Amino acid sequence: MSQTTLAPEGTATREPSGILAFENVTRVFRTGLESHTALDDVSLTLQESQRIGIIGESGSGKSTLVRMALGLDRPTSGRVLYQGRDIHSFSQAEWLAYRRAIQWIGQDTGGAFNPRWTIRKSMMRVNTTLCGLTAKDAKDRMESLTVQMGLDAALLDRKPAALSGGQRQRFAIVRAVIPEPKVLLADEAVSALDVSVQGTVLNLLKEYCDTADCALMFVSHGLPTTAFMTHDVVVMKNGVVVEHGPTRRVLEEPEHDYTRQLVDAYTYDA
Ligand SMILES: Nc1ncnc2c1ncn2[C@@H]1O[C@H](COP(=O)(O)OP(=O)(O)OP(=O)(O)O)[C@@H](O)[C@H]1O
Ligand SMILES: [Mg+2]
Repeated sequence: MSQTTLAPEGTATREPSGILAFENVTRVFRTGLESHTALDDVSLTLQESQRIGIIGESGSGKSTLVRMALGLDRPTSGRVLYQGRDIHSFSQAEWLAYRRAIQWIGQDTGGAFNPRWTIRKSMMRVNTTLCGLTAKDAKDRMESLTVQMGLDAALLDRKPAALSGGQRQRFAIVRAVIPEPKVLLADEAVSALDVSVQGTVLNLLKEYCDTADCALMFVSHGLPTTAFMTHDVVVMKNGVVVEHGPTRRVLEEPEHDYTRQLVDAYTYDA
């Protein structure tokens, strides 16, 4: 499969390896005698500050790709590169720096806060230990992002069980942004949020990416949301990238039948 290089429209310089790259990544899961190819020779380059959407039906391999980038899973063959280097060749110190530079937000990440601690304590712990921020920087950023996210700062002193699911999820997004990542992986990050707060959260994420030159991989089933958030989009089916290109072109004039079906199904459902 050919290399898929996705630069923001109008970007003059392109690094061949980008900030994050998947190089011929294949992942085969074996369960008993059966095997399933969740990713099949995926090559994809994410440039600095580029926002790309990943769309495709359930089971097409989107979350598996995200897990590869986080190093939570390893390719059966192929490589995942950060700034041109295989993430599995990192030293321990490089790995820690990588864990700060790349942050993940899942559909229910808010549920991952320590239930015995206040949100403030959980966030401060992660950001001063894992991410190496000073206590003052972590606190200032945490409090100002909390307010920007439309949350009352007093909620920081509650334990997760005393918050709504949407409040917890918004705190999870604050936590992901505090360490000033260079890559954000959002896997259905706003799907569980009330439509009325989705806009606030998406605007904040987009604004963060723009001001911090942060790249975004935005996995979503929502096509309007993907159109709003991304420069380019990748369409996946059965672990294969079937189409990629500028988001507007792909969604308005799909070249691949499968993309057309996705777009038509969405219009029909909506
Ligand atoms: N640990 C695993 N063991 C076996 N099969 C797996 C494992 N993880 C994922 N798979 C399979 O790999 C395929 C891709 O899964 P993945 O979670 O990446 O899909 P997805 O595109 O994120 O779907 P959704 O939109 O439902 O979140 C699926 O068929 C899934 O069942
Ligand atoms: Mg998924």
